[in-house]
Amino acid sequence: MERKKYYITTPIYYPSGNWHIGHCYTTVICDALDRFHKLLGEETFFLTGTDEHGQKVEREAKSRGITPMEFIDPLIAEMKDMWKLLDIGYDRFLRTTDADHVACVQKIYQKLYESGDIYKSEYSGRYCTPCESMWTEAQLKNGKCPDCGREVVLQKEESYFFRLSKYAPRILKLYEDNPEFLQPKSRINEMVNNFLKPGLNDLSVSRKTVKWGVPLPFDKEHYAYVWIDALSNYVSALGYLSDDDALFRKFWPAELHLVGKEIVRFHAIIWPAILMALGLPLPKQVYGHGWLLIGGEKLSKSKQDATGAQLTDPYELVKRYGADAVRYFLLREIPFGSDGEYTNERLLTRINSDLANDLGNLVSRTAAMIGQYFGGKLPARGPQEDVDGELIALAEGTFARVNSAMEKLNAPEALGEIFALVSRANKYIDETTPWILAKDEAGRERLGTVLYHLAETVRICAVLLKPFLTKAPALILKSFSCDPASGFESLGFGKLQAGAAIEKIPPLFPRIDIKKELAQAEQIARESKKKTQPVKESKAEEAAVSEIGIEDFEKIQLKVGEVIACERVEKSDKLLHETVKIGEETRSIVSGIAKYYTPEEMVGKRVVVVANLKPVKLRGVLSEGMILCAEDKDGNLSLVSPEKAMASGGTVR
Ligand code: MSP
Repeated sequence: MERKKYYITTPIYYPSGNWHIGHCYTTVICDALDRFHKLLGEETFFLTGTDEHGQKVEREAKSRGITPMEFIDPLIAEMKDMWKLLDIGYDRFLRTTDADHVACVQKIYQKLYESGDIYKSEYSGRYCTPCESMWTEAQLKNGKCPDCGREVVLQKEESYFFRLSKYAPRILKLYEDNPEFLQPKSRINEMVNNFLKPGLNDLSVSRKTVKWGVPLPFDKEHYAYVWIDALSNYVSALGYLSDDDALFRKFWPAELHLVGKEIVRFHAIIWPAILMALGLPLPKQVYGHGWLLIGGEKLSKSKQDATGAQLTDPYELVKRYGADAVRYFLLREIPFGSDGEYTNERLLTRINSDLANDLGNLVSRTAAMIGQYFGGKLPARGPQEDVDGELIALAEGTFARVNSAMEKLNAPEALGEIFALVSRANKYIDETTPWILAKDEAGRERLGTVLYHLAETVRICAVLLKPFLTKAPALILKSFSCDPASGFESLGFGKLQAGAAIEKIPPLFPRIDIKKELAQAEQIARESKKKTQPVKESKAEEAAVSEIGIEDFEKIQLKVGEVIACERVEKSDKLLHETVKIGEETRSIVSGIAKYYTPEEMVGKRVVVVANLKPVKLRGVLSEGMILCAEDKDGNLSLVSPEKAMASGGTVR
């Protein structure tokens, strides 16, 4: 029989750096769903990646004097490290700069152009650069972007349009005939009331001004609108319209596009319309999940430290508490489909109560008692008592309940079922009191039965936990003489063989002193806030469009610096890493000037430094400022220096 297919996707992430725990949410859930379906024996494909084109990246790179690729590459490397730390087992990490994706986007545009679904016209509207979204005047909220509340800018230019309006009736009908297409239900109402009922306009799908993107095949002056570029990743990743489209034929349509609620509009209106225009089947479901909040607001790069107190850096969190704990928190704590508040305290409380106390204790007590009373060999089961029947029935029924929760994508409910079994097993220990049974020979057979049942329950819990946690289940299964690769076929109660070696394992989740840990987490959060501010979700367009007042200029702190050391940045032919003395202070600065100055030439130079630029890492090297250069029309650079001798630390005004 042909294996069932399961294709699941996360959105592709903006490479804006400084990842926070909110970014991990969609991806961890997708990973758990993917693992779950694999364990069901299905053939799965799990896609994630990065959304790299557009104005934001173009501007960020330019302001640093480097190419967009030089700007992005280190951020992507960081993101991949993060997914590795969290054991995200994707099948493909797609970058929208990948050649096969770019080729596919061009073919999609060509097809839509030829079918008449794309036509040339002119647009004018209000553009939000961080969201890469165009708004009409009526859609603005208090004159600002209705999605993120930031400033928008007036844009007018010749553009190609996609006939989105033509598909509105079909999309409405889609929601009516197939409400499962968009979930949770509340998102359907949002789409219908906010977008479909007021009427859809045709969508501008090309830009002339943003050149960091995919050039259109039929008009090289135009570049693909980033959202069409990005959405296409779901089919380009599988080889759609390429010479090798075997994966596409195998896996499309996707079972699920899991996305945050703020981008449902793109996935549940624009994407289906594009697919309809291409004559492709639609994904079975788009699910718009809720957000992790801090202080009631969406946890985001700019707000991650709104209070300054919460540690939200996934690297730091995984380093301190482990991948399993972070995954568990994300999967268990946030009610699926709704928003959920993030605090370090909630994370630590979950770790202690569920993982350290309930699961950790069950495993360690079971292994320890088998070690103590039976020399580490699993005893045989004897006759059963009523209390055993209860535990066994619960253990045998848990998979069905977990499965039905996962069919609804409800990981918190699925984990709730598994931990109900963990709790029942802990209660079973209290009810059966193995330590009393162990006191005399008469209790030995009963003791064996109790410990067998406990070991078997632990094994079943470990197998059931495999989609959610990636470290502990394997450790448990190994120390209980089971194959860590066991799938759900191994779930039947009673599969452990008497005599199997049961080894003790070190505590899976050491208990955390919450008060002490919270203080430390807060200190780290505050320090990291001072050190590395996030790469901004550019507000640069505000400054770029018009004249500025003196008060704006005064925001920029320009200082005279002296380069006291300089070297090339590894694997980059554009970047130099300078150590610059500014008065008493020494800064590490990375500049894109290696083509114009050698490191030797740089040492001793007096330069002008933008001293209050937010620090960033470029190719892994900290850059705490920018050295100013003049640039001619051919792009040649020359350092800007004070004309007379001037001590470092002096102000430039
Ligand atoms: N690049 C677009 C998606 C294009 S898909 C064709 C994008 N990228 S993003 O980096 O801003 O967001 C990626 C995912 O992270 C989204 O699903 C988003 O909802 C999720 N999250 C970012 N912050 C979040 C929280 N605070 N909470 C939960 N998820 C959030 O949008």
